[in-house]
Amino acid sequence: MLKYLPFFLLYAVALSAVLASRGFRGTAAPLAAPGDPAGKRRTRLLIVGATGATGRQLVAQALERGYEVTALVRETSRLPVYHPKLRVVEVDVLDYAAVEEVVRGQEAVVSALGHKRFLGPTRILSEGTRNLLRAMKAHGVGRFVCVTTLGIGDSAGRMGIYYTFFVIPLIVPFYFWDKTRQERLIAASDAEWVIVRPGRLTNGTKRGACRHGPGVGSFLATVRVSRADVADFMLDQVESDAYLRQAPGVARG
Ligand SMILES: NC(=O)c1ccc[n+]([C@@H]2O[C@H](COP(=O)([O-])OP(=O)(O)OC[C@H]3O[C@@H](n4cnc5c(N)ncnc54)[C@H](OP(=O)(O)O)[C@@H]3O)[C@@H](O)[C@H]2O)c1
Repeated sequence: MLKYLPFFLLYAVALSAVLASRGFRGTAAPLAAPGDPAGKRRTRLLIVGATGATGRQLVAQALERGYEVTALVRETSRLPVYHPKLRVVEVDVLDYAAVEEVVRGQEAVVSALGHKRFLGPTRILSEGTRNLLRAMKAHGVGRFVCVTTLGIGDSAGRMGIYYTFFVIPLIVPFYFWDKTRQERLIAASDAEWVIVRPGRLTNGTKRGACRHGPGVGSFLATVRVSRADVADFMLDQVESDAYLRQAPGVARG
């Protein structure tokens, strides 16, 4: 077995290099057309992946912040939350017609789309995101906040050595590859986008403070952050222009 180790290490390093070059790097060009008028507060949010662990945090916190929330889910029964400002709509993000229908009338889209089909090539993240961006353009919805991950684009390697040399090359290479496609689609769009790249997600409580920015993450240890804090940071990006057309990393403060 040991004789194969150099080949495996070579594969892991090459994969990291490819993920680095294929994901989003740097800061995108400023928007050609101005977005919403300054000072305008968005009130209607579409949350994608709302039945997921991060999505549920997004829904709960967005309602706490007073937004009118539309939760995009595949099965209504998986989100047993009732609130006068919450509408739950069954849509598969891969079905463009249904996506267009639900995006119409929104003021921002926040996506925590994910899945566990790690073992083969998939395009769920990129195709789902393509549909969202297309529908947003069709209906003039500007703001798009989307979670991807540390470890791609200019954050390659920053999920730490365990991810770089074990998890990514052995368990999630296809998933991470699709995330690079997802990032490139977002970066090439004319939406007012923010890509949020968290470290390893935990189900810890919200601290209300995390480290964020381009230098977050470590080449050695894996940084962590709770889904609750990621959701909090993502919702901040709905109103803030601080990271407009950028891809900040996020980790526990
Ligand atoms: N786990 C980590 O340590 C880690 C680290 C960094 C980044 N991330 C990323 O963070 C994101 C959120 O993670 P998470 O653990 O909260 O995800 P999760 O619990 O797996 O939730 C994923 C959500 O996406 C939805 N979804 C999947 N396919 C869909 C489709 N075709 N149409 C509509 N909805 C669909 C799922 O719906 P169903 O409930 O119907 O399946 C679910 O609501 C993911 O992109 C993940 O890769 C994770």
